[in-house]
Amino acid sequence: MKLICANFKMNFLKENILNYLENIHEKINKDRVIFFPSNLYISDFKKENYLVGSQDISFKEFGSLTGETSIKQLKELGISYTLIGHSERRKYFNDNRYINAKVKLALKNDLKVILCIGESLKERDNNLTSLVLKKEIDEALKNNNCFNLNNLIIAYEPIWSIGTSVIPDNKVIFKIVQEIKDYLKNKYDLNLKVLYGGSVNLENIDKLENISNLDGYLIGGASLQPEKFLDLIRIIK
Ligand code: 13P
Repeated sequence: MKLICANFKMNFLKENILNYLENIHEKINKDRVIFFPSNLYISDFKKENYLVGSQDISFKEFGSLTGETSIKQLKELGISYTLIGHSERRKYFNDNRYINAKVKLALKNDLKVILCIGESLKERDNNLTSLVLKKEIDEALKNNNCFNLNNLIIAYEPIWSIGTSVIPDNKVIFKIVQEIKDYLKNKYDLNLKVLYGGSVNLENIDKLENISNLDGYLIGGASLQPEKFLDLIRIIK
């Protein structure tokens, strides 16, 4: 059964969250769908026993970091997952500098980490995709001997596909996902799940479902309307 992750990004007010929860009530398999709402609404999902994660964590547990949210505080709200390295974080918040520290901190705190990796359009066009993905994996995993790396999940999200309705061909996704899996196996002796993210929606899900080596999806825009999200989930095996 594939994992389905709903990344709400910076969307919704409280009223929308309560409506959303009402709409999905008793219609979701709580073992395989994970919600990543804004930190403010994590406890609303937790209260109804959904699996819930944060969209990011701070790179330190506590301290003088104005505006940040500690992993310890997020754990109190009930998260068991966190995204790390989403391309929007890398782009707007310079997260490349913190990925390694964040991954280590999250693993140390027994969270499951969904590590987002992906190439830009320019990198793709210059045949740099493999190189970029391997570099992002190596950076995230370096100096990490003491923590349980089996708690990592990789989300392959080509940056040019996020929010654009454009997705790579099935063959391309298959090849890249396999490359990621082989790299993790050969270099780190890890068998990790690999998800695909980037414009997954009701129009392309049937096609994506033909990719045999995918372990799930990280879904942004198409998770924001509960009825449509439920339709998507019904199609995903
Ligand atoms: P979209 O599904 O809106 O393209 O977003 C993908 C994403 O960034 C999920 O993390």
